[in-house]
Amino acid sequence: MPIFKIAVYPGDGIGPEVIDEAVRVLDAVQDLDGGFQLEKTTLPWGAKYWETHGRVAPENFLDVLRPFDAILLGAVGWPAKIPDYVTLAPLVTIRQTFDQYACMRPARLFPGVKSVLAGKGSADIDMLVIRENSEGEYVDNGGRFRRGRPDEFAVQTALHTRRGVERILRFAFDMACKRRRRLTMITKSNAQRYAYVLWDELLEELAPQFPDVHAERQHCDAAAMNMVRCPEHFDVIVASNLFGDLLTDLGGVLSGGLGLAPSTNTNPERTYPSMFEPVHGSAPDIAGQGVANPVAAILSAAMMLDHLELRAAAEHIRSAVGAALGEGRHTRDLGGSLTTRQMGDAVISRLGVSEPRVA
Ligand code: NAI
Ligand code: MG
Repeated sequence: MPIFKIAVYPGDGIGPEVIDEAVRVLDAVQDLDGGFQLEKTTLPWGAKYWETHGRVAPENFLDVLRPFDAILLGAVGWPAKIPDYVTLAPLVTIRQTFDQYACMRPARLFPGVKSVLAGKGSADIDMLVIRENSEGEYVDNGGRFRRGRPDEFAVQTALHTRRGVERILRFAFDMACKRRRRLTMITKSNAQRYAYVLWDELLEELAPQFPDVHAERQHCDAAAMNMVRCPEHFDVIVASNLFGDLLTDLGGVLSGGLGLAPSTNTNPERTYPSMFEPVHGSAPDIAGQGVANPVAAILSAAMMLDHLELRAAAEHIRSAVGAALGEGRHTRDLGGSLTTRQMGDAVISRLGVSEPRVA
């Protein structure tokens, strides 16, 4: 039986609360499936670790994580005690060192969940936003000059490499092949004629290799409008780091909000472990109350199973989440009254009851 080594990094605030439920769901689906085993190691890193060790993770945290098959992360950050740039630093290092260049954020509205868009239902909102996660506008490249003087200026330079753009486009084409075969690439090549024209040219170069995929381009401003106006148009969206960041928040809100939004940081070559985490942060405002919605963490765990090629088990989880939400089993953020634990129970009780949705 295949055994997968999973590093569980619950983190801070609601991180441990939602990860507890994700782990319970994973245990239940492992029992149900019977064909694989997850060997989980919990890493007690974060704000508490900082109190005793003066750092949020051990110095060799990358060496600790490297042998695992995947990392399941809750959320990190406790801004009242520790500055965010300290708590969040390991995450950025993990993403960059482990070359997790593909960030996938599905925006799917489950039946039974109300969208903020009037007149749009679950049949209309089912997209996968893929964000380039390793370069582009978020490369630390620039400087401040003549600080504090009237003639002060700042330079912030984005970096888009042929290799980096090509590999994320290829990844997006592959994903489109597995879904509804429509790929929308988002840039702003009408205004920024160097970097985004490179994106345009590489899309043209790659498209003939994927004749079954309808590939198109939209500028980011138009895409933001179109995602609201006609979300049903979109299947797979691929964008650079900055535009992907913007559009994944939009996708998140269209599909029911932060409590439901999962995310991956994928190293497609599997040279390094990939990391799976809800889009939301540690939510200190509701931490310790047992009211956080665990669904984003549970769906992130399902994406981890996809990555481990345990697709049937992943689909079981998504079906169970869909069934629970569809029956109106909702936490407070969705207008319901279930606690975090009760929502976890609701998902577990639906596992194996409903037919997995065929994607
Ligand atoms: P946040 O995502 O933690 O919370 C934003 C709002 O959404 C809050 O009102 C919160 O109560 C609500 N919310 C979030 N997740 C929820 C859930 N599962 N169920 C119900 N309600 C939920 O963002 P915020 O407040 O800006 O950041 C808090 C901390 O988290 C900061 O330290 C920030 O740096 C960190 N953070 C960490 C991330 C990570 O670990 N990848 C990502 C984003 C923020
Ligand atoms: Mg963001």
